Amino acid sequence: MTEINTNIEQAILILKADDLVAIPTETVYGLAANAFSETAVEKIFKLKKRPSFNPLIVHIGSIVELDRIAKNIPPLAIELAKAFWPGPLTLLLEKTELIPNLVTAQNKTVAVRMPNHPATLQLLSELDFPLAAPSANPFMSVSPTKPEHVKKYFDGKLKMILDGGFCSEGIESTILGFENNNAVLYRQGSCSTAEIEKITGKLLLPKSDNSTPKVPGMLKRHYAPKTKFILTSNYKKELRNHANKKIGIMLFSAPSELLPNISFRILSEKESLKEAAQNLFATLIELDAMKLDLIIAVYVPNKGIGKSINDRLERAASL
Ligand code: TXA
Ligand code: MG
Repeated sequence: MTEINTNIEQAILILKADDLVAIPTETVYGLAANAFSETAVEKIFKLKKRPSFNPLIVHIGSIVELDRIAKNIPPLAIELAKAFWPGPLTLLLEKTELIPNLVTAQNKTVAVRMPNHPATLQLLSELDFPLAAPSANPFMSVSPTKPEHVKKYFDGKLKMILDGGFCSEGIESTILGFENNNAVLYRQGSCSTAEIEKITGKLLLPKSDNSTPKVPGMLKRHYAPKTKFILTSNYKKELRNHANKKIGIMLFSAPSELLPNISFRILSEKESLKEAAQNLFATLIELDAMKLDLIIAVYVPNKGIGKSINDRLERAASL
């Protein structure tokens, strides 16, 4: 049985014993282990069935800890950390010897961030090691934003899920790297690129193509539900193409008319992109559990966090 509770002392004991705890963050739930312990980190890869070439993010509780994780840190990175931490911004920095190669998948860089969730910040402040944590879902599936999602994925295989409620942002962190003191955007995420660019100037895009992604999170297909999934800007046309099927439709805001036998799910009744981001993965997981023949998702307005929502929808729809 996997426990869902708010017992930070219990989480500390489990983590100190080189075992795993699922932790809440403002973005999605993470599957956490002592980042300095290879034994512990190995358990993450095993439980997630994550290939060892896919590196993990290291979570710290205060900016002071950064020196144990990374070295030769560019001044621009420090400036960004001061502006956005705790928050959904992950920085790729040169790793120290304390970080096992397993964490970084043999890369010389380590991904690091300070999550903005009171329970996890409290937990980190009581540990004398940082936490390596990927999203708490099996490889390739939809990221969890509620403790119940994690339980469904790993019930019985994980001792404890630290209950931090419904993740407020709902989409993973934005990932930046650095080249010659320029910032490179590796993954769109919850941290606004417009806000980041106020500090960095225009963000560069990575040179790698899809066959050799630097960030496997940029793999074209990702975050995918099991149910057949179509992304469109015109769901009525798709409905005509798929008559007599059990269909769920995921929309940004309320449709002009409801249709019989179609399950509509609205991401934000009040047409807020922030609320839509929070609801995105929970809605996908809900629709995926309904044994439908088809899920039709509709693009959200492509501005601000809407770009990150559309990015995740495109990866879910990609074959
Ligand atoms: O919001 C988040 O970032 C959540 C929460 C739990 O913090 N974590 C998360 O982790 O999304 P994960 O493992 O699902 O995605 C991390 C991404 C992966 O695509 C991984 O390849 C990339 O970060 N990454 C990690 N370390 C890297 C490195 N050293 N170089 C390049 N990419 C790296
Ligand atoms: Mg993930």
